[in-house]
Amino acid sequence: MKALVLAGGTGTRLRPITHTAAKQLVPVANKPVLYYGIESIVAAGITEIGVVVGGTAAEIRSALGDGRRFGARITYLPQAAPLGLAHAVRIARGWLGDDDFVMYLGDNFIVGGITGLVDEFRRERPDAHILTTKVADPTLFGVAELGPDGQVLAVQEKPENPRSDHAVAGVYLFTPAVHEAVAGIEPSCRGELEITDAIQWLIDSGRSVRATTITGYWKDTGNAEDMLEVNRVILAGIEPAVEGLVDDASRITGRVHVEAGARIEGSRITGPAIIGEGTLIKNSVIGPGTSIAANCRISESEVESSIILEGARIQNTGRITDSLTGRSVHIIGDGRTSHTRRLLLGDHSKIHIAS
Ligand code: G1P
Repeated sequence: MKALVLAGGTGTRLRPITHTAAKQLVPVANKPVLYYGIESIVAAGITEIGVVVGGTAAEIRSALGDGRRFGARITYLPQAAPLGLAHAVRIARGWLGDDDFVMYLGDNFIVGGITGLVDEFRRERPDAHILTTKVADPTLFGVAELGPDGQVLAVQEKPENPRSDHAVAGVYLFTPAVHEAVAGIEPSCRGELEITDAIQWLIDSGRSVRATTITGYWKDTGNAEDMLEVNRVILAGIEPAVEGLVDDASRITGRVHVEAGARIEGSRITGPAIIGEGTLIKNSVIGPGTSIAANCRISESEVESSIILEGARIQNTGRITDSLTGRSVHIIGDGRTSHTRRLLLGDHSKIHIAS
């Protein structure tokens, strides 16, 4: 079996971060979202991985390399334009050959991995096997109508009047039957070849399409709120560890990972939180749900429930919460503000906060 990982896409809903960085590489608990997906594919016993890349190809390639660090072999499959998930299957046709495969959307997050799903597919081998989960607003997703025994009766892409609340999550398993389906469909009204339409094509052709309903946590990390939520969920399960230096004037409570080379001076850190390699936290308060990446310098400030990418300088700012800040940002305050700030900043932003 092979895996096809989709890491094209422009990430418009995550701007400004995605003006300069691929959305699949935004870190959650100091590790890019995409790594979690690759790791769960390898954990399911699949090591031949094709990664479909678009405008951010160079960045994705330098993050994943040849796949050796994951115990996998990665082949890059360039997609000239983001023309849809079924289009990605079309361009991967030669590489996939006649193997079964799992298609994994690189911005999706599934706590608990995909091993159970892959094992179930290997056992039963329907032509397509999808993963569904109940959501509050199904109009934002592909929606599946399910029969009593896990068979899929119909799927529709972002319907105005959904016939169920089962959203289709971004992990799909296929036999080579899908190639006929993706060749047989037309672009949707958003101009894309929808994988949902290919799955419906299989159903209409009498092929077997099954679903497993996920009970655990799943998120399609489309926007900053989603990223921050996933970050909180992942941090809640991290192993506490202090590999860096914490001085006597500091206090650490809860699940906190202080990575090697990080220094905590005169500060209070309340987990779950992670402090990256080479980062200095001085006279500051770091609250729950916070990931601070490598080589940041935070002083006389308070940061809570946020993702701070590497190289940030945050000084005298008062309280920053629910924020996602890009690489090498400078946020400097006058030390007098008592306001709480929520910031979404692209790489190299410079902000002065006055009271
Ligand atoms: C895509 C699929 C949709 C699925 C979703 C899961 O949507 O088209 O059916 O529910 O991924 O993340 P998109 O992210 O392209 O809007």
